[in-house]
Amino acid sequence: MSNTTGNFMGYKDFLQNSAKPVVSPRIWKGKDINEQLYGSDSSLSEGRGAVSLINEDTGDAYGISPNINGLVQVLKPGEHNHPHRHSNMAIFVVFEGEGYSIVEGEKVEWEKGDVFYAPAWLSHEHCNTSEEQDAILYTFQDVSELSRTGSWFLEEPVGSGAKRVVAGTEETDIVPEI
Ligand SMILES: [Fe+2]
Repeated sequence: MSNTTGNFMGYKDFLQNSAKPVVSPRIWKGKDINEQLYGSDSSLSEGRGAVSLINEDTGDAYGISPNINGLVQVLKPGEHNHPHRHSNMAIFVVFEGEGYSIVEGEKVEWEKGDVFYAPAWLSHEHCNTSEEQDAILYTFQDVSELSRTGSWFLEEPVGSGAKRVVAGTEETDIVPEI
């Protein structure tokens, strides 16, 4: 515990400083997302086929809203990622393809149009069962909220120990499973 003392501010100033700009509506067009996934200017992260949807109005939350972030994940034919868990929840919308996920030991089979949910800190992994077609999962998480409150943790692989993801630490070099 640090002995560094806290500061003070009049409550009126606090209210004014705490007020944040309005977050504007946004749309991410399907054709633009497709370009990000498959075009020559792709933003897919190295080693992980995912691109995040950013609303600049959310500042360093890098979210869709100040507390919710979104990403589009591509699983290549036959791809099966590793079991992992994190303190953020995840809602998955199956945009294309078919496969299954194992959430805390329970197999969830999915196909285009399905929606499934992985609660916080439950182990999960995803598998694209097609040998020809990519699976595309639109994923919505509360990383933006958890990161802001210092409570974003990852464990990958499961059993390796939870790591707190904080800016400036080696954990930020991890490109986690999704
Ligand atoms: Fe995940």
